[in-house]
Amino acid sequence: MNKLKSLFVLVLIIPLLLQAESEQDLSLLKPPMDEFIDSLIEKMTLEEKVGQLAQYAGGGSMGFNTGIDDKNKELVKKGKVGSFLHVLGADFLGGLQKIAVEESRLGIPLIFGLDVVHGLKTIFPVPLASACSFEPKAVEKTTRIAAVEAAASGIHWTFAPMVDIALDPRWGRIVEGAGEDPYLGAVMAKAQVEGYQGDGLSFENTILACPKHYVAYGAPLGGRDYNSAEVSKRTLNEVYLPPFLAAVKAGAGSLMNGFNDINGEPMACDKELLTDVLREKWGFEGFVVSDWNSIAELLNHGVAKDRVDAGKKALSAGIDMDMTSGIFGEEILKSVKKGDISEKLVDKAVRRILEAKYKLGLFDDPFKYCKVEVEKEEILKDEHIKAAKEMARKSIVLLKNKDGVLPLKKDLGTVAVIGSLADDTRAPLGSWKAFGEEKDVVTVLEGIKNAVSRNTKVIYSKGCDIKGNDRSGFKEAVSVAAEADMVVLVLGESDDMSGEARSCSEIDLPGVQKELAEKIVGTGTKVVVVLMNGRPLAIPWLAENVPAILEAWFLGIQSGNAIADVLFGDYNPGGKLAVTIPRSVGQIPCFYYHKNTGRPASDELNQHTARYFDLPVTPLYPFGHGLSYTEFKYSKLKIKNKKVKANDSLEISFSIKNTGKIAGSEVIQLYIKDVVASIAPPVKKLVGFKRIYLEDREQVKVNMKMPVNLLGFYNKKMKKVVEPGEVRIMIGSSSEDIRLDDSFTIEGKETEISESEIYYSETSVSSD
Ligand code: NOJ
Repeated sequence: MNKLKSLFVLVLIIPLLLQAESEQDLSLLKPPMDEFIDSLIEKMTLEEKVGQLAQYAGGGSMGFNTGIDDKNKELVKKGKVGSFLHVLGADFLGGLQKIAVEESRLGIPLIFGLDVVHGLKTIFPVPLASACSFEPKAVEKTTRIAAVEAAASGIHWTFAPMVDIALDPRWGRIVEGAGEDPYLGAVMAKAQVEGYQGDGLSFENTILACPKHYVAYGAPLGGRDYNSAEVSKRTLNEVYLPPFLAAVKAGAGSLMNGFNDINGEPMACDKELLTDVLREKWGFEGFVVSDWNSIAELLNHGVAKDRVDAGKKALSAGIDMDMTSGIFGEEILKSVKKGDISEKLVDKAVRRILEAKYKLGLFDDPFKYCKVEVEKEEILKDEHIKAAKEMARKSIVLLKNKDGVLPLKKDLGTVAVIGSLADDTRAPLGSWKAFGEEKDVVTVLEGIKNAVSRNTKVIYSKGCDIKGNDRSGFKEAVSVAAEADMVVLVLGESDDMSGEARSCSEIDLPGVQKELAEKIVGTGTKVVVVLMNGRPLAIPWLAENVPAILEAWFLGIQSGNAIADVLFGDYNPGGKLAVTIPRSVGQIPCFYYHKNTGRPASDELNQHTARYFDLPVTPLYPFGHGLSYTEFKYSKLKIKNKKVKANDSLEISFSIKNTGKIAGSEVIQLYIKDVVASIAPPVKKLVGFKRIYLEDREQVKVNMKMPVNLLGFYNKKMKKVVEPGEVRIMIGSSSEDIRLDDSFTIEGKETEISESEIYYSETSVSSD
């Protein structure tokens, strides 16, 4: 226990302790957080206060613990730092914490942050992939495991989930989020916050979540990372904000701003969004950390004349902690001393940071996350690896399966495995691999070898690299393919082609991989393609010429086993696309919830409609698409209450049957469309979904309850309303494959609804 806490115990608690009998009694007697923090702030010097607002890098953007040199240790001793990021390890961080607690004047513990985005050491599928599971409970489970491993390694705080909606696959960070849809994005945001923060921050195995990058960072012009977003207020409210609201309502303890500006207002100093919306409207009680150096970048944006000005603008807007720019630690100190900024403003930010430390239980036990034995026990546990395989299997999307070419037989004579990604131990770790190591990765080649019969020959040939134009491996690959009974061709991107600062102007297969595919298909041997990639790739040639395609994204350490399970039928795929796959880069932005327009795109070329003259009107694969090895039949749609009002719930039921011969899962998707509204509505909007697992021939009844307020939109006066009128409901297997539809009516008057509530549909399954 540190000095300050001890003082409290002595003065306030001991007399009460004497009467307390059980451990529970003891916890009831803790001083309330406000009282504790008031008293702490009173003791702090101005230097110590701004110190709490400063976060410094303990490692490079990829490396860990590299920057904790004597200079940084001195800062800790002087109470001039509140947090380090890019640090790791129970032992190492325990040592650093000891300095803070024992050698600084007030002994305030540090918090350690890291980008634990899809696992710490047990690496799970990248977020874009796991969103394709459409299974929030599974995502929550893997996120929980990530938190357990991170907490065991000294980490208190993750910079995740990334909840940016992304409509542009050129943007490299599309890999880090849940794709294009605000409803799916909100569901996944909630699941991840709940996973990281578990049953409460006071537990030893939970970490603080930090939804990012607030907001519209996923809408950079031209898909170029860090670029400005030009977004209307309506789109901001209806598309980009909902996943943040979901994360806040799920109790996220912190939040990070985006590097971007929206319509010219940089997010590092946007008071309206950081304070008026986030805190006043939504009631966010955590603290806001700036993204890396983004306070100093206000100078580049051209809205601050110097560092002092930048600091003042960011702090006044609602940023509490400064990631790496040093401005809060240095310039804010000067500004307060000069009387340019009131100390009260600093106190507000300090309080929020101290509250987070308090809630994490660090004033009780600053070393609770630094137990080397726990670290050894928790990291890469068998059950974590099992969960990684399960999540990877759930995330795979079967894009095409002509004539049931998949699943493959395990006793094939020869399988040719071609493509450098098939034998790549790095790519499956994807962007933000934290502490993940290549040695723990099961490649596709290994997975296939593990899966096939003893008599099956597996021959590997690289063919070509992921990038570059070296065709020297083509000859060998073609001869291997020609001899084989089946080819598994693994194509896509390397792990470092998506992620931060990895925007691309093209979204085709990189290098000469398409040419390799043409040559392999030319041999006449049947080819199955496995795609590994961090963004939707435009693959029209493959879609046309290859009978089966699996979208595997980057699936983490169990990648190869999961892919082999799907290839050979040990697992029936059921993932669905969380993002549209366009036909070409020119079709971007290509997303399912566009407006109808006055001249809806028509297949007839010579009409004057909203289409490209040189492309079909549809995407290559739509949002929500994903096949299975079995078939599902939807029937008997019933709407219980055909007339509803705002604030009611629409109740519907329908039947779904697995009509095939094997067990499988289907993601049932509920879409709605306002038939006539005062603002042009989207052609479809996802308002509910559920992944349902059915045995062969099994039929169940699905009951859905959809809050009518999910139809809320921003009217001409920018009020969030539900308007009366007819609404179409569509139930389908994808956004394009609608199986059942009907309509209902919203009665009454236009109703204004709360902007700070988030609505989810509920689904239950009963026997039919
Ligand atoms: C910059 C990235 O934009 C952000 O997502 C990340 O959390 C920080 N760096 C810290 O690594």
